[in-house]
Amino acid sequence: MRTIVVLNPKGGCGKSTIATNIAAYFSIKGKRVTLADCDPQGSSDDWLSARPDKYSAINGIAVEHDRLKIPRNTEILIIDTPAAMEDKRLKKYLRKAQSLVMPIIASPIDIRAAERFLNELFSFRGSINNKIKIATIANRVREDTLIAAKLENYLNNIRLPNGKKLPFMTMLRASQNYIRASEQGLSIFELPPSKTYYDREQWAPLLRWLNSKRSIPK
Ligand SMILES: Nc1ncnc2c1ncn2[C@@H]1O[C@H](COP(=O)(O)OP(=O)(O)OP(=O)(O)O)[C@@H](O)[C@H]1O
Ligand SMILES: [Mg+2]
Repeated sequence: MRTIVVLNPKGGCGKSTIATNIAAYFSIKGKRVTLADCDPQGSSDDWLSARPDKYSAINGIAVEHDRLKIPRNTEILIIDTPAAMEDKRLKKYLRKAQSLVMPIIASPIDIRAAERFLNELFSFRGSINNKIKIATIANRVREDTLIAAKLENYLNNIRLPNGKKLPFMTMLRASQNYIRASEQGLSIFELPPSKTYYDREQWAPLLRWLNSKRSIPK
């Protein structure tokens, strides 16, 4: 089973949006997808409830007593995490995951918070899946702003303690398409291609990464 966790303790950075879009993407491809909503707010769960029957099916599970009951036939597990989380729970999800996708909002405060969190994460290495593959993405970017350029520069230059570069995948623009899709239980991949062409282009590097061995520990 392929396990992807979407994580950033910062609220509202786009975790549920990214998690639901990744889930829909793989389910459109014919994979058996389970979307685990670990957030008591239940955004992913709400999204699944709104998803029309005629679209590809995605299995939804909520966390019960801190446990995930994952259906046996799951091929792809996407874990949508809550904003603030105790270290114990955080480590638990990270132990399960092969790939971690971290959305970051393009603002100075969010960039700094992301940096702090990444440092904290590195200090956990040893107690989590040591080989977990991490990708950061900038989300809700208003293009051509100075802060967007700064974020891209920062994300391009983060290095892991072992000196390797942290893969910065892509920038996703702020677009009504995400809001429109999420209201209907859909992904941008299920909206008309002519309206989402640009967003799909921006997703391509992340999807390439998720489909490649680069996002799976050796
Ligand atoms: N690229 C985007 N363009 C426009 N709106 C977006 C984008 N990404 C997310 N949003 C919107 O921003 C809001 C917050 O996104 P989302 O719920 O995915 O964040 P979250 O990290 O899951 O939040 P929480 O920490 O509360 O779980 C939502 O209303 C969502 O529709
Ligand atoms: Mg959420």
